[in-house]
Amino acid sequence: MREHFAIAIDGPSGAGKSSLAQRCAEAYGIIYVDTGAIYRTVGLAAYRQGIDRKDEAAVSAILPQLRIEMRYDESGEQRMYLNGEDVSRDIRMPEISICASDVSALPSVRSYLLEMQRQLARENNVIMDGRDIGTVVLPDAQLKIFLTASAQARAERRMKQLAEKGVAADFEEVLRDIQYRDAQDSGRKTAPLKPADDAVYLDTTEIDFEASFAKMCQIIHEHLGIELPEAQS
Ligand code: DC
Repeated sequence: MREHFAIAIDGPSGAGKSSLAQRCAEAYGIIYVDTGAIYRTVGLAAYRQGIDRKDEAAVSAILPQLRIEMRYDESGEQRMYLNGEDVSRDIRMPEISICASDVSALPSVRSYLLEMQRQLARENNVIMDGRDIGTVVLPDAQLKIFLTASAQARAERRMKQLAEKGVAADFEEVLRDIQYRDAQDSGRKTAPLKPADDAVYLDTTEIDFEASFAKMCQIIHEHLGIELPEAQS
């Protein structure tokens, strides 16, 4: 029997998984695990070494040299370390999103990272987000949510986030990036992005962040019987 409970959140890029999962983790006092950050760290390593990210033999060859660590700072934020260097910022660069998607399609990369993700769920109550959490990483999670939104809505949100950071971006390019990753993440042979048979769907195309959060809390209450702590509601 599991000693801890796990909430698995899967869905396409930009559906709001990380911000919603992070908010839930804070509200319920559990650990948020962003598994995309782990793939991004491998993608960054491949990028820095200038190797072809779709070449399985080349990427597999660098894996044993990578010490990937996930640590939480005092505010509870997840930080990623690559061979001791804090790469939390670098892994968010747009070109690294594509590298992460490329390396994540390689079966050897996925199996290499699987145990690390499972270990975190064995040791903590977690809300873990990714693409294959409910289907492969934690198939016995007590609650699985498939979070989605139209590509158009996701691209619009990404534009807004970039504008808030003062980054100018071209809408068509942002949309193309999202569509590229959707196609690659859903179309790959190993652990493709797809809802688990027992996943609860949450489509946020028409609703804002607060409404999405309220909906998540309702789903958590219905499925796990956990109330939102008073101070958070
Ligand atoms: O969630 P994200 O955008 O940070 O993820 C980056 C890439 O990593 C994404 O394009 C697909 C891949 N990924 C994956 O294949 N499986 C996961 N569990 C998480 C991310």
